[in-house]
Amino acid sequence: MTDHPLDLAGIGIGPFNLSLAAQLDAVDDLDALFFDRGPAFDWHPGMMLPEVSLQTSFLKDLVTAVNPTSPWSFLAYLVAQKRFYEFLNAEFEAVPRQEFAQYLAWVAARLPGLRFGSAIREVRFEGGAFRLAGDRVAVAARNLALGVGLQPDLPAFAAKLDPRDRFHSAEAAFALDRTAGRRVAVIGGGQSGAEIVLNLLSRGADAPASVEWISRRPNFQPIDATPFTNELFTPHYVESFHALPDARRRSTVARQKLAGDGISTSTLRAIYRRLYALRHMEGEPLAASLLPHREVLDVDRAGGYRLVMRNGFDGRIEVSQADVVVLATGYRYALPPCLDPLREHLALDATGRPQIGADFAAAWDGPAGNRIFVLNGGLISHGIAEPQLSLMAWRSAVIVNALAGRPVFDIGALPSPVAWSRADPERSLRTSGPV
Ligand SMILES: Cc1cc2nc3c(=O)[nH]c(=O)nc-3n(C[C@H](O)[C@H](O)[C@H](O)COP(=O)(O)OP(=O)(O)OC[C@H]3O[C@@H](n4cnc5c(N)ncnc54)[C@H](O)[C@@H]3O)c2cc1C
Ligand SMILES: NC(=O)c1ccc[n+]([C@@H]2O[C@H](COP(=O)([O-])OP(=O)(O)OC[C@H]3O[C@@H](n4cnc5c(N)ncnc54)[C@H](OP(=O)(O)O)[C@@H]3O)[C@@H](O)[C@H]2O)c1
Repeated sequence: MTDHPLDLAGIGIGPFNLSLAAQLDAVDDLDALFFDRGPAFDWHPGMMLPEVSLQTSFLKDLVTAVNPTSPWSFLAYLVAQKRFYEFLNAEFEAVPRQEFAQYLAWVAARLPGLRFGSAIREVRFEGGAFRLAGDRVAVAARNLALGVGLQPDLPAFAAKLDPRDRFHSAEAAFALDRTAGRRVAVIGGGQSGAEIVLNLLSRGADAPASVEWISRRPNFQPIDATPFTNELFTPHYVESFHALPDARRRSTVARQKLAGDGISTSTLRAIYRRLYALRHMEGEPLAASLLPHREVLDVDRAGGYRLVMRNGFDGRIEVSQADVVVLATGYRYALPPCLDPLREHLALDATGRPQIGADFAAAWDGPAGNRIFVLNGGLISHGIAEPQLSLMAWRSAVIVNALAGRPVFDIGALPSPVAWSRADPERSLRTSGPV
């Protein structure tokens, strides 16, 4: 155990705590260490399928939005890799996810204060500090940054499937080989389901016998990445949203789902074109069916698995047969088990998430000077930008300022063409001006 508590200990090193570590690197007088259970930085390796792209501008990297002169920007990475001109000449419509993952790993390999192979098993609050214990870890810190990501969301019926015959999308890259020659059902009409279906339709000699793509959404729906929807992914919107009452925030998040969780137009187009080629040019060697507006209710064993679905289009119950079930059913928030000793001290909302203040600190009954910053837990408190990369540089800067107790980064008043609320006259005045 260190004698002097750190200013901050970070649990988890995904992109979000990595961004916080990168922004903290610009501050001399704050001591922080970050811990991850993995042996090295690896960004969603189970979904690193060939030719997948980022859904976000590369300018929304770890630091740039607030600190464009940081050495940890995507552009700094390109220059250090001597790829700047080639990257420009490649004219990517969207950056390959592999490239962005390499950028993140490049930063993670160089930033000080990151410890891998260090799972945190338990966090207690004793003697005015958080005490972290885990694999090769025993540290004390005045503040915590919880950056443990989200958990795969498995429907209840998943327990009825033999683990050899099912996998969540988070493991797809390691498990898709199991589909060769078999009847495959992919459940989930988000980007993960779409990328997996495209992969299954393109496996050549290792193709499955058949593919069914089942989505609860009424259609295979695109992400909305148009200008006024992109305003939802700005600090100005998040600040206005955070000020709303809880019930209003929850209904707003539900309405805005496709702004963050729809399918990239390029992926939809690629799937449609692949289906066209299979049906009309390659003599349909692989049977593919698309089943939108179906909610899978249950499964049972019958010549493989029988999936029972409700069709929301015509209201009927349908069944389908599969040998392998891919659960592209999304992710959910959960407090990590290492926080169990603190659970009863945290104020949770109706969804089980910590209640998070404007500075991303969770409400708890401990001393106000000891904060638990929560990253990627604020879907309800801060809105749909929270689980996305879009605002990570800004969120990290907000946390650094709160931790330092002074405006290390200028995050004040950003002008916006949209007035979301006139309830805060001071803010309206601050943000109005020439646009
Ligand atoms: C396949 C995929 C692609 C995505 N692409 C985009 C995109 O293009 N654009 C976009 O805006 N968003 C995207 N997202 C959404 C979001 O940006 C990512 O999920 C992002 O990785 C979230 O970062 P995170 O740091 O919260 O969590 P994670 O990346 O999940 O990282 C959490 C880390 O915490 C560690 N950890 C957990 N518990 C412990 C513990 N007890 N001790 C130590 N370490 C622990 C884990 O090992 C992990 O490394 C994508 C999501 C997925 C699933
Ligand atoms: N390349 C990339 O950039 C990339 C790749 C993958 C993921 N992502 C991002 O990561 C996040 C998560 O994406 P995701 O696709 O993993 O999850 P997701 O967007 O939450 O999609 C999960 C899907 O599963 C459906 N579903 C859940 N249970 C079902 C059931 N019983 N029957 C039928 N359908 C069911 C959901 O329907 P409902 O919508 O009705 O709940 C939803 O369509 C998103 O923000 C996404 O954009 C990005």
